[in-house]
Amino acid sequence: MTDHRLIFDAEAQNTGTNTVVTADHFLTPVDQFFTRSHGKTPTIDPRSWRLEIGGLCSQPRSFTLDDLRALPRRTVPATLVCAGLRRNEYLLLGPLPGELPWGPQAASTGEWTGVLLRDVLDLVGVSPAARYVEFTGLDRVERHGHTFGFGGSIDLDKALDGDVLLATELNGGELPPVHGFPVRAVVPGWIGARSVKWLGRIALLAEPSENYFQREAYRVQYTVDPAKPRDVTAGVALSRIAVNAAILDPVPEQEVCAGLLRVRGWAWGTAARPVTAVEVSPNDGHDWLPARITNPGLGYTWTFWEATVDLQPGRRTLVVRATDGASPAQSPELRDGWNVKGYANNAWHRVAIVVQRAGT
Ligand code: MTE
Repeated sequence: MTDHRLIFDAEAQNTGTNTVVTADHFLTPVDQFFTRSHGKTPTIDPRSWRLEIGGLCSQPRSFTLDDLRALPRRTVPATLVCAGLRRNEYLLLGPLPGELPWGPQAASTGEWTGVLLRDVLDLVGVSPAARYVEFTGLDRVERHGHTFGFGGSIDLDKALDGDVLLATELNGGELPPVHGFPVRAVVPGWIGARSVKWLGRIALLAEPSENYFQREAYRVQYTVDPAKPRDVTAGVALSRIAVNAAILDPVPEQEVCAGLLRVRGWAWGTAARPVTAVEVSPNDGHDWLPARITNPGLGYTWTFWEATVDLQPGRRTLVVRATDGASPAQSPELRDGWNVKGYANNAWHRVAIVVQRAGT
């Protein structure tokens, strides 16, 4: 079978999880976790590492790892989802130069352990004027002739909601270097880009971060500006991830035998709303059958589902759609969500397979 682990670069900074392996593990094994980094993994000495917190607060200060370890520990299960997830489907509509063609591989679920951002912010005295919390990483990213740390911001309300972590562990072990050692932000339910790795600074701000990855990238813009065709600064900054569902097994173009076939995948709701229904179509959306929820997940994690379809020989397109009962419905049409950088695709997920006559 095709190995659907995606490897986009030699330094393995950008890799996607094999989808069939994903379907086998509710918690993604650490060595299979997808990775998305815009620069090289920095080498950080945990003894000299400091987290600086400043901006709109009464007691700006610097934290050592021991300072953080002295705070209450919390473990939060959460699915990390890259905004470029399922971008490869948009390529059917046209090229997206410079963007990684992720399939459903850019999502993984971990148990993150660390301290609550809320507890840390309590120690610096957040000013009433603060509305946003900006995270900046210690990596060095180059864009348009400038070199800077990857960063972005979240709303103060989200930062205080009791689920946002400054994480030091993933699945019970030390955070691996590529995933942000020694400390990363984990913002459950928001696009992965806000879960800043190799955290070096937190700033309380009155306005969203000016970091390139908040102000100029990770924004949804539906129309191309002919003068600046790759620019999305005029778009809307991505934050919460929308309801979504994907088929992980079988994989695209897989050859299967006619008859009964098990179809498996993930789904999630928006803002930790539980998935209330998942449906699968064996014939490109003409007929639908309910999928069984095999693991309903927890809060901000995915839900696992499976369905059994009965297939006749030929080329067949399987489709999945899900709902959390409250979010806008997933669109049947890819083009409804198309945007300049191909973010946040949550159209019905289609997987074309080849069904062979049994015994051939
Ligand atoms: N943090 C830093 N410092 N640098 C980065 O390039 N990439 C972001 C986010 N945090 C990134 C970062 C993006 S786009 C995603 S999807 C997630 O990290 C990926 O996290 P992972 O590599 O641990 O899966």
